[in-house]
Amino acid sequence: MKHKELYTVAVVGATGAVATEMIEILEERKFPVGALVPLASARSAGDTVSFQGQDLTVQELAEHSFARVDIALFSAGAEISRKFAPIAVKAGAVVIDNSAAWRMDKTVPLSVPEVNKADIAKHQGIIANPNCSTIQLVVALKPLHTVAHIKRIVVTTFQSVSGTGKEAMDELLEESRDLLSFKEASPNVYPYQIAFNCLPHIDDFLPTGYTKEEMKMLNETRKIMGDDSIHVTATTVRVPVYVCHSESVNIETQNKLTADEARALLAEAPGVMLYDDPAHKIYPMPIDVAGKDDVYVGRIREDDSIANGLNLWIVADNLRKGAALNAIQIAEALIAGRSSLN
Ligand SMILES: NC(=O)c1ccc[n+]([C@@H]2O[C@H](COP(=O)([O-])OP(=O)(O)OC[C@H]3O[C@@H](n4cnc5c(N)ncnc54)[C@H](OP(=O)(O)O)[C@@H]3O)[C@@H](O)[C@H]2O)c1
Repeated sequence: MKHKELYTVAVVGATGAVATEMIEILEERKFPVGALVPLASARSAGDTVSFQGQDLTVQELAEHSFARVDIALFSAGAEISRKFAPIAVKAGAVVIDNSAAWRMDKTVPLSVPEVNKADIAKHQGIIANPNCSTIQLVVALKPLHTVAHIKRIVVTTFQSVSGTGKEAMDELLEESRDLLSFKEASPNVYPYQIAFNCLPHIDDFLPTGYTKEEMKMLNETRKIMGDDSIHVTATTVRVPVYVCHSESVNIETQNKLTADEARALLAEAPGVMLYDDPAHKIYPMPIDVAGKDDVYVGRIREDDSIANGLNLWIVADNLRKGAALNAIQIAEALIAGRSSLN
């Protein structure tokens, strides 16, 4: 595919929580879009999405949807990506896939541009966008890893319902309304009530007792950081927050890093907002970080229970940096290094 002034961009899952942000971010960041092709299931074919002041009609995703498409942003789940990403590539598009379908495929780059932008150029048609919890973790930890070498990460997540999609956001609202009206909650998306509750259960359980989400944090962190020696143990928890994932993170480093040194590194790090002044009650919270692009880091403390330990609290907008923004940053890197396009 040749360099173009304007690109035809398809968005698969255009009516979903992530793709809605993608379309907004394409416009916000003035991505050179010549034509936008919104695709979804038959359920919402005929609906409209707004882009650059125009109402565009959502089309039903089909095998012929990718003719003349340069870049296809996929955000409709792993099953759709597994089936349609190769079809899009065959039609000449480069796919940036937001699902888990291709992330651990050895031929597919998994990229967070602040960490491993160079990997994007190695693509063979598909580039994977990492899991939301992993993106914010690696953006904050890579600058510390470069200097002090992280040996082990212990992370507990507090993940918002928008990480599950738009139906889960509606479920939290409905359950909250019902419970505040003294009616019973009727969970549908989640196995239990999410309103006024925490579920230590994200994605399916494995025979080891870990969930798939927890294992994604291990495997994707290693792949993005390009370092299989990092040990990661995760506990992922769904909490009744609409937008933003928060993470309590403990790291053990090879070389000593003081809290002040970590703060100095993070103050300069791309994509990071250091937000750490407990004396003035300054620490990141979902209500402040929702809608922001940066990964916010605060509560940085030395962990005196081990020789070289640090604790951090990391919050990011899971729909933006955790999904849509990261995908658009990949697309920007792709068109900046034109020769890497098919
Ligand atoms: N939410 C996050 O924070 C986050 C973060 C990272 C990755 N992801 C991943 O991004 C993907 C989308 O997540 P989401 O939260 O945006 O989900 P969502 O709000 O539930 O939206 C799903 C989208 O997929 C479309 N879709 C469903 N079945 C389809 C089919 N058979 N053919 C075509 N389109 C179909 C839906 O269209 P209809 O309107 O027609 O149903 C809708 O547009 C998932 O793979 C998810 O794992 C999400």
